[in-house]
Amino acid sequence: MLYIFVNGKILDSESPAIKVFDRGMVFGDGLYDVIKLQNGNFIFLEDHIERMKKSAKFFGIKFPYDLEEIYEIGQKLSKMNDLKEGELYLQLTRGVDIIRDHVFEDDYEPTFVEIVQPVRKMNPEIWQVGARVLLHPDLRHNFCEHKTTDLLPNVIAKKYVRSRGAYEALMFRSDEVGKYVTEGASSSYIFFDGEKIIAPKIENILPGITRIKVLWLAKEMDIEIEERRVYIDELLKMKEVILLSTLSRVLPIIKVENFEFKKGEIAKKLDIAFMDLCASHLSVK
Ligand code: PDD
Repeated sequence: MLYIFVNGKILDSESPAIKVFDRGMVFGDGLYDVIKLQNGNFIFLEDHIERMKKSAKFFGIKFPYDLEEIYEIGQKLSKMNDLKEGELYLQLTRGVDIIRDHVFEDDYEPTFVEIVQPVRKMNPEIWQVGARVLLHPDLRHNFCEHKTTDLLPNVIAKKYVRSRGAYEALMFRSDEVGKYVTEGASSSYIFFDGEKIIAPKIENILPGITRIKVLWLAKEMDIEIEERRVYIDELLKMKEVILLSTLSRVLPIIKVENFEFKKGEIAKKLDIAFMDLCASHLSVK
């Protein structure tokens, strides 16, 4: 059992907290975000809330709490659940409809959920050993710059790779030139070609907070950065393939399908710098 926050109330996670006609439940009409809880701190909480607020504005979903309130609720939950390390999960939906109708009314109360839970299972050796990923078509919609709750294609891609012993999907779309990398089912990618970092352009992929921070760190290290489409055909020329996310940090990829890559120096340097940045971050003074 965990204590969770739903619309102003702290409840037992086993209690029936969400109504069956919640639009998040019946339409996936909502947004979410995941923030790392590290040593009692919500890492880059400000950036995550800013991204979520921007998306809420884009979709016209009311955002009911401000940064300080979300921080205070999170702190309360981590104390009540006795967790100093974990994940902060936020979910915002367009509230409850008394009947199931695609068209939403303008006067509604959004549903806001806040959860502090133990961090999902990960092999702690993965950062030393590196991870294997598999190609998978990106079957999603055109709103992938937002963290929407309709994650069915992501779930399918993740299950596909995990049932084959790999860690993550490397998803791709196609254009007139060929197949190009988008992102993982729940992560971003960057590449190092021996001279510069190449990051897939933010065009229908999530502007990952880890991606933003890591590219900033790379810039500080005087590493050149190019943002553009990266084609699957080019992967063989890359020296390093690097996966990024709030929970995976900076993770070296050692295999894409059966093509092997070295666990390189760039991933190592960036992970150390990223961990330092996280350790020195204090959310909301
Ligand atoms: N996922 N791309 C997708 C599709 C994601 O779902 C995520 C994060 C990322 C990385 O974003 P960030 O660096 O802001 O964590 C990229 C979270 C961890 C999840 O869904 O659990």
